[in-house]
Amino acid sequence: MVPVLVVFSQSHVDFRIPEFEAICSMLSIRVKNMNSINTENHMFVLHFENRLDVTKLLSRSILIKFAISLSVEAQSYEQLFHELKNKPEVIENYDVPDESFALRFFAIGRKKKLDSIERIKMFLEAVQFNHAPICLISPVNEFYLVEEYDHPTDENPRKIFFGKLWGEGRSELKTKYNLRERCYIGNTTMDPELSFIQVGFPMHLCSLIEHLKANLAMVQPGNLVFDPFVGTGGLILPAAEFGGYVMGTEINYQTARAKGRSSRQGVGERHESESIRANFEQYYTEARFQNDKLLSIVIADSSKHAIWSSNAKFDVIVADPPYGVREKARKTVKNKKSDANEDYIQYQQKEDYDLEAAFCDLLNLAAMALVMNGRVSFWYPVILEKYCSENLPTHPAMELLSNCEQPLTRKTSRRLLSYRKVREPIANEECEIRKTGVSHYRDCLFSSNKKENC
Ligand SMILES: C[S@@+](CC[C@H](N)C(=O)[O-])C[C@H]1O[C@@H](n2cnc3c(N)ncnc32)[C@H](O)[C@@H]1O
Repeated sequence: MVPVLVVFSQSHVDFRIPEFEAICSMLSIRVKNMNSINTENHMFVLHFENRLDVTKLLSRSILIKFAISLSVEAQSYEQLFHELKNKPEVIENYDVPDESFALRFFAIGRKKKLDSIERIKMFLEAVQFNHAPICLISPVNEFYLVEEYDHPTDENPRKIFFGKLWGEGRSELKTKYNLRERCYIGNTTMDPELSFIQVGFPMHLCSLIEHLKANLAMVQPGNLVFDPFVGTGGLILPAAEFGGYVMGTEINYQTARAKGRSSRQGVGERHESESIRANFEQYYTEARFQNDKLLSIVIADSSKHAIWSSNAKFDVIVADPPYGVREKARKTVKNKKSDANEDYIQYQQKEDYDLEAAFCDLLNLAAMALVMNGRVSFWYPVILEKYCSENLPTHPAMELLSNCEQPLTRKTSRRLLSYRKVREPIANEECEIRKTGVSHYRDCLFSSNKKENC
């Protein structure tokens, strides 16, 4: 086994272990000491079978910053230089005229910024490269000197690591998909990093089921992914990036067609070039990717399951249903004025859509419209005081795979829930939410008078 220093992002730490475990399971990567990963520290020396496994892991992780093949680990610089003297091959193997190099410095756990140039100078005085030219922009070999501190105010690091960079995770995706430069966004467009975590999750997790490994282990081009509350399409973009064919329903015509006032400050009316499709064109610049991943945005009420034929089967459903804070859940109702033609039902009026009903409908839809072993993943708001995992939505045909928390305020958070369809539902089987506060989520957030409901 080879020791590798894996450095994680410090954001969304609750998602760290599920993401790591799921990727390893999906890609059959064996890590000897996986249990040492926790959410308090942000880097770990992990033991992998080979470099290829590390590369595979990095290719799918949003939450790993980078991984270094660990050559030396020490408690002081004196010890580090001594160890490197005893292992000359660590430098000699790369100290050749036709391979440029760079040395980077990284410290974790310390508040005060350290002078990285000083550290690099000090290292290169003690450990000399005699033949390899320095190249900071695109070096052939990139080395890392990493200091780990126990406490933010400590003067001396607890540990110092040295090794060669093996690669970086996919955090660049959150930059590529940043909202500032995205053609069309709305008030509730999903944060790019979280959307990649969410869309990656159910797809990773499917492979936890041993017998599925052969055909569902990775997102295959051709996976059909559906977002019933599609909004501006913030969740289906990453699904397409991972190879899915995507579609969504949206009840609000203005949102689905990018009409009305822009949510960008001071911009006024939306420009006609803004649309969900334009977002796809922005990111899929290669002609063969343009548009063909986005199948359709249907203006429809996702609570009306009858819009789907019984043959409609999705591989994955992703959703961020509205919790009534920045966006209300709405549903269509039959027009109050009866129509002359009795058989013709008009769904024209809209009314508030109870949150509990919305989540039940979503899980019922998943049980009905997912392929066997298909996955659904959605955000579920909770009042912290009232949270209890037993009260999360359940459905006899759906198995809860993961439940991760993103804190929102002092009183609330939301949980990313992922389920797998384990069998076809039988007649009258429905989603159940045992004791829910979810319908009162908005009231609890904004009102102190309605405490009895919270
Ligand atoms: C939280 S937003 C989703 C944001 C989306 N993930 C994005 O990145 O833009 C919820 C969306 O669901 C829509 N919605 C509310 N009730 C709906 C319903 N019954 N059927 C379909 N869409 C609905 C809202 O209009 C809103 O655009």
